[in-house]
Amino acid sequence: METAKKRLFSGVQPSGPLHIGNYFGALKQWLDHQEEYDCVFSVVDYHALTSLKDPKLVHEYTLSAIKDLLAIGIDPNKSILFQQSRVSEHTELAWILDCLVTVPFLELSHAYKDKVAKGLEANAGLFTYPMLMAADILLYDTDVVPVGEDQRQHVEYAREAAAKFNNAYTQTFKEPKEMIVKNVAIVPGTDGKKMSKSYGNTIPLFATKEEITKAVMSIVTDSSGERPENVFAIHKLFLDQSGLDKIYSNPTMRGKYKLIKEALIEDLEKFIAPMREKRANISDEEAVRIINEGSEKAKALAAAKMAEVRSKVGVAL
Ligand code: TYM
Repeated sequence: METAKKRLFSGVQPSGPLHIGNYFGALKQWLDHQEEYDCVFSVVDYHALTSLKDPKLVHEYTLSAIKDLLAIGIDPNKSILFQQSRVSEHTELAWILDCLVTVPFLELSHAYKDKVAKGLEANAGLFTYPMLMAADILLYDTDVVPVGEDQRQHVEYAREAAAKFNNAYTQTFKEPKEMIVKNVAIVPGTDGKKMSKSYGNTIPLFATKEEITKAVMSIVTDSSGERPENVFAIHKLFLDQSGLDKIYSNPTMRGKYKLIKEALIEDLEKFIAPMREKRANISDEEAVRIINEGSEKAKALAAAKMAEVRSKVGVAL
């Protein structure tokens, strides 16, 4: 007897160009599980509104993220790929979850505290962000959520929100688990800190050769060390041990940071060039067509779940 596949859900904010931290920390896991799981992926544009106010940029980054995901190999014939704002059930469920959780519970969010400490506006959307993310995950009866380490607490929030709802209104939601791959849980940027759009230390996933060169040449190196650790940390995303040994255990390369950086530029270019080409062949129209189809499929699933939720909370007459 064929058993149903487990559900995998994940999302990415269209808040700027995707970078290799997104790829290795999360998106690669999306790709690796497209066969084994029943996958639903979202471009979470309403989450991006917590920080992005320029409508032109929201539009540009959303379309761009859809193309990026198609170019890396998200296959709309295998997985559902949709735009969060097109499925209004997400904001609807988020409201119901907001009414179940307390302010002190949301105040425990590291992401919220970090963002406000960095000077981001403490808007109410940013504060209740974890419940919109919980709604994303819970609407699809999700089993696993592949993410980077920085999203661990958000998946815990989703689990706790599910438990609170189930406790208040009888069993309705599955409690999801995070899927975090240990050695890529926190991909470092060009300064050795976590790679992040907001730190300006990224290597864009669809960088041109010039952009790759500029980013790699900006990697901070400490000339007193055995090897340039920040370069090595990025290089090991692309090479296996024997590939790394050829560079980092090669006596003729020792201390030659410029040569080592040039080798990283070549390896990045080898990795990025085919995806860049594929992306250049995806038109705006095709991206919109695919996201429209995916959003309809997601809507059907979310609507069924919300009908159950409305009935359970008592608003269905
Ligand atoms: P976002 O858009 O910031 O990032 C997308 C994914 O990339 C991972 N990531 C990293 N992983 C390792 N090292 C890094 N340096 C690095 N930088 C980013 C993130 O952990 C994430 O998995 N809140 C989410 C978006 C979201 C979501 C969801 C995710 C909304 N709803 C439901 C999963 C399920 C976010 O801001 O990710």
